[in-house]
Amino acid sequence: MSRLRIGIIGCGSVAQIVHLPTLYQLRNLFEVAAICDVSPKALAGVGEAWNIASRFSRYQDLLALDTVDAVLIANPSAYHAEATIAAMRAGKHALVEKPMCLNLAENDAIIAEAEKTGRLVQVGTMRRYAPAFLEACRIVKEMEEIRLAKVHDIIGRNNLIIEPTSTVVAADDIPESMAASLRHRQEEQIREAIGDQPAALKTAYNMMLGLSTHDTSAMREMLGMPKKVLYATQRHGGRSLTAAFDYGEFVCMFSSGSDNIPRYETFLQVYGADKALRVDYDTPFVRNLPIRLSLVESSDGQRKTHTIIQPGWGDAFTEEWRAFHHSVRSGEPTKASPQDFRQDLLLYRDMIQLMADGEPA
Ligand SMILES: NC(=O)c1ccc[n+]([C@@H]2O[C@H](COP(=O)([O-])OP(=O)(O)OC[C@H]3O[C@@H](n4cnc5c(N)ncnc54)[C@H](O)[C@@H]3O)[C@@H](O)[C@H]2O)c1
Repeated sequence: MSRLRIGIIGCGSVAQIVHLPTLYQLRNLFEVAAICDVSPKALAGVGEAWNIASRFSRYQDLLALDTVDAVLIANPSAYHAEATIAAMRAGKHALVEKPMCLNLAENDAIIAEAEKTGRLVQVGTMRRYAPAFLEACRIVKEMEEIRLAKVHDIIGRNNLIIEPTSTVVAADDIPESMAASLRHRQEEQIREAIGDQPAALKTAYNMMLGLSTHDTSAMREMLGMPKKVLYATQRHGGRSLTAAFDYGEFVCMFSSGSDNIPRYETFLQVYGADKALRVDYDTPFVRNLPIRLSLVESSDGQRKTHTIIQPGWGDAFTEEWRAFHHSVRSGEPTKASPQDFRQDLLLYRDMIQLMADGEPA
């Protein structure tokens, strides 16, 4: 298995806390060949900490290197589509952090470029690679019936967990004009996605792109695409979301939000007739926390067994990177493809429409 030479575009929190240590752990498969960040401070800090000499402030210069096979795109989400397309045009494969892009037009442009160039684009929804999740999917596929499902994701603000557990070189030297241009770009992309909507709905859409894509992509992998969104609503300025997804035979309840408690309360739950299971996730910012599967079942209505399954210590990000390496080297398609991400955008479009319809006059 030859090593892939990776260029990292965007050296912020997730690159520093998660991806660089993961790539180092998997150094039989990967080598970090170059890094890029618009912040001179983040670029120098990360370059020195990880001994990476090849450093760029423009990703176009990193993409021109023939010593880079593939890129990690971990800059702000509003730049993901642009960087992903540029990477493919430069002949590179891309693992792009979620959300892959902010609207359907960008999504379709990525799909078209991937078809043209034959490059791989894998979206960074790492929860779908956790061994406990894959085992849960296997069990669900064997269930005779499903009566109810739940997807729940309430998380403490990331910094509540990052500050006591990690040291991040902050990109706090970016000029205000650059930050303003990012905000403007993001607003335009969101307007393109959902039209002119009240601020709460824009926040809700951002929450879906930033957090819910973990939940809905895992839900779709486990249960398939719902027939429709039955209802969706938001409260607290778009920061608390609920919805119900109609699967015909059953309904999947969805709830999501963030608060000031330093913890993750994140799970998928599926109820059958004599078996129910639940996959629990913890914060991605503390590496190697176990992702747990619990199964409660009864074959005779009397005896109940409750099993906690931890298939191993394998980290979801480690498995995500292994899968990326495998797809690049074997040519096998990835499940976290641009086409797959598009399904999430379709759900969010419908959720926002229902939220808009349900807004009090
Ligand atoms: N998979 C996960 O669980 C997970 C967790 C956190 C973040 N993310 C995603 O990763 C991405 C980055 O998030 P983060 O928390 O690290 O953000 P961050 O703000 O900490 O880091 C972003 C970095 O990108 C740099 N940057 C900005 N514009 C750039 C440009 N044009 N070219 C190159 N670099 C640029 C910034 O200077 C900064 O260092 C986001 O898309 C986010 O949604 C995913």
